[in-house]
Amino acid sequence: MLRYLLPIAVLVSFGAIPPVAHGAPPFELKPVKVDLPDNNTMFPAGQNSDAINNNCLACHSADMVLNQPAMSKQSWAAEVSKMINNYKAPVAPEDVGPIVEYLAALKGAK
Ligand code: HEC
Repeated sequence: MLRYLLPIAVLVSFGAIPPVAHGAPPFELKPVKVDLPDNNTMFPAGQNSDAINNNCLACHSADMVLNQPAMSKQSWAAEVSKMINNYKAPVAPEDVGPIVEYLAALKGAK
């Protein structure tokens, strides 16, 4: 007899538990419109700008590069190497020279 009563007792007691979120408003997903800042900046057109636009915009904006302080050509070369070696930027080897030239011309230390 107890074998039959136990499951019934369990079912009845579950039904007796009041809903936990009783009284709380039902959860509702609503679409929101978010205006993100523009991130479409390319590097300014000029000699060798194709090389840098093709290789240096995959992971961050041009502003990430252009807002850095002016540096010597040697430091820009080190910066490009850092992108390639540390961050695995897939830069075509023949583009490395033109990219460094571009950066030194635009943001070279005087
Ligand atoms: C594979 C992704 C990737 C690519 C492609 C890439 N970068 Fe970066 N870059 C990064 C990361 C990651 C950082 C560091 C971001 C941070 O610290 O918040 C960074 C930061 C920088 C900075 C800021 C200074 C610094 O060292 O943190 C400069 C300048 C820069 N990158 C230049 C370049 C140039 C020039 C190229 C093209 C040759 C390039 N990046 C391509 C990933 C990349």
